[in-house]
Amino acid sequence: MAELTPAPDGKRVFIQTFGCQMNELDSGKMLRLLESDGYAAAADPSDADVILINTCSVREKPEQKVRSLLGRYKKLKHANEDLVIGVTGCYAQQAKGELLRRFDDLDLVMGPDAIPRLPALLMDVRAGRRELATEQLDRQDYPFTNDLVFRGDRRVSAFVTIQKGCDNLCSFCIVPFTRGREVSRSADDVIDEVRRLAAEGVREVTFLGQNVNSYGLKKSNEIPFHELLARAAGVEGIARVRFTTSNPWDLDEGLVALYANEPRLSSYFHLPVQAGADSMLVRMRRRHTRERYLELVEELRAARPDLALSTDIIVGFPGETEEEHQATLSLLSAVRYDFIYSFKYSPRPFTGAVRKYDDDVPVDVKKRRLREVQDLQRTITDEALASWVGKDVEVLVEGPSKRDSSWLAGRIGQNWMVNFKGSERLCGELVTVRVTEALTNSLAGEVVTRASVARSALPILG
Ligand code: 5AD
Ligand code: SF4
Repeated sequence: MAELTPAPDGKRVFIQTFGCQMNELDSGKMLRLLESDGYAAAADPSDADVILINTCSVREKPEQKVRSLLGRYKKLKHANEDLVIGVTGCYAQQAKGELLRRFDDLDLVMGPDAIPRLPALLMDVRAGRRELATEQLDRQDYPFTNDLVFRGDRRVSAFVTIQKGCDNLCSFCIVPFTRGREVSRSADDVIDEVRRLAAEGVREVTFLGQNVNSYGLKKSNEIPFHELLARAAGVEGIARVRFTTSNPWDLDEGLVALYANEPRLSSYFHLPVQAGADSMLVRMRRRHTRERYLELVEELRAARPDLALSTDIIVGFPGETEEEHQATLSLLSAVRYDFIYSFKYSPRPFTGAVRKYDDDVPVDVKKRRLREVQDLQRTITDEALASWVGKDVEVLVEGPSKRDSSWLAGRIGQNWMVNFKGSERLCGELVTVRVTEALTNSLAGEVVTRASVARSALPILG
């Protein structure tokens, strides 16, 4: 193989990210890899030598989005014929060579598994080739990258990959096809990354995987997920540990017990349910029942009474009856989630549902059901937010507020963002704030004390 020569100094890359937190992390990794190769981040596509569109194909119509963006970038390419344009992520993996055939201006199509090869692929592109990199690496020794990726420039919080891919085949979901088989990263590598992040000042890590509860189960001699969380929580400097995404069926007593015993594990759990009726869960090929799910919620709340819960809901899945829809609404009332993400079903290529069922719930019915789900949840979320007013909460300060830079913003363990007035010196500190107001999806308050003095003496309540 030819030796890599670094990109000429001053090259700039613009990465546009769609989709989930995994994509956000992947974009961060791509940037890190390119930075080591001499690139810098461009603030705007018009300043870039390389534009990468990191796509999602879970629900949206990614094709239209890519088409419209490429239409816009075409003009830039005409002004600068050396401009390199690439499509990466799940839609690249789904559409593969078809993208290169359809879009003449595209130089690179790269799936998530090829990220470590990005610098080499760009070299090939600079040498005049159009590159397709969509082979999947479903090996247990998958080469996870070790670059540190911070969330935001304050370096208070970071995502850490613990797993790639998914071996579940929920019938609506394209992820097992775009991100391949489930592979867990070694615990030693994960903890080493957490230590390096903590040494850079990071106080909160979020473990990412499609199915984190099955972490390590398919690897010989690997520790289970709850032990990985416990080890991360014990790393010096780490105040909070979070994770996403879970599945009800792999959730074990070890994790429930950790909620009772480890205050650094945040009081927040995103536990996708998707639907409230068992008949729907069977068609969706989910491996939990409504009853088991409700039992789990009870167990988790018994272990951590102030736990905030969120979930994912799909309305209008094939064959959804009015009764099944009502079962989803009654589940929302029964659990009283703090927050939900809700979607209209959209048929995805390769999936079990698209092969087996017609997309037979009319669009207006899907819309109405989504509205009913969202209206009900709005009331529950408003009540959950209002219940914080007057309370003292512990906030991990992330940086200046997006709305007004004279304010600071940070999260409580339950994941709500809290805005309050304070000095930027508080970034990275745990601060006690009295909540004075509940807003649409956040809280506002006033600083009571800085909690960091007490940090070493007291357990930090997530
Ligand atoms: N249609 C609608 N929503 C979907 N999701 C995944 N696939 C689909 C689909 N085909 C939702 C699920 C999942 C979340 C990430 O996206 O709720 O949990
Ligand atoms: Fe998709 Fe189900 Fe895997 Fe989640 S668990 S990524 S919904 S197949």
